[in-house]
Amino acid sequence: MFITFEGPEGSGKTTQISKLANFLEEKGYSVYKTREPGGTAIGDQIRATLLALGNTEMHPRTEALLLQASRAQLVEEVISVRLGNNEIVLCDRYADSTLAYQGYGHQNDLESLRKIIHYATGGLQPDLTILLDLDVEEGLRRRSEAGGVNRLDAFELDFHRRVREGYHQLAKAEPKRWVTVEANRSLEVIQQELRELVLERL
Ligand code: TYD
Repeated sequence: MFITFEGPEGSGKTTQISKLANFLEEKGYSVYKTREPGGTAIGDQIRATLLALGNTEMHPRTEALLLQASRAQLVEEVISVRLGNNEIVLCDRYADSTLAYQGYGHQNDLESLRKIIHYATGGLQPDLTILLDLDVEEGLRRRSEAGGVNRLDAFELDFHRRVREGYHQLAKAEPKRWVTVEANRSLEVIQQELRELVLERL
């Protein structure tokens, strides 16, 4: 089972995924946790290029293609193999991040993005996508408190609003695949909800 986690900056995906992975392992499931961009040695090198604050001259098409390059490597080297072994793969961001950030956020053509995503993933789609939904201002506040703002975080408020709206549209278009979880609550309450909704689908 392939589960992806999406959401704006500071929605707490990473912490929630770790806790969920531990919980599922304790239940006896084999779980593999990964993230995008990155998740492989090659992907992590691409990630460093994508996130470096100094790379201000990066063209949007370059950015979109580097993200797909990282994704292609992750799908081939990790995700497909793990799914083939019947493991549960939990992925911190996947193709929907490209549609939300590069598509809705940076307003690149969605159809072109869908084509390069398809090429990168070979059409591999998550079985379940969890949107940790959070007010944009709250997410950015959490992120700047935590420090470590990167190049892809450092855009204006309107950009992040478009990203969030993009997620809402994507979730609405595929209600069977997406579940939206309100992330403006305590870590424990959110974790409990995630456990229930994943166990239900297993
Ligand atoms: P990261 O520090 O991992 O942020 P987060 O904890 O919010 O996931 O940085 C990943 C950044 O990359 C984040 O700003 C979203 C962005 N991104 C895209 O713009 N497009 C994509 O396809 C992916 C996978 C990520």
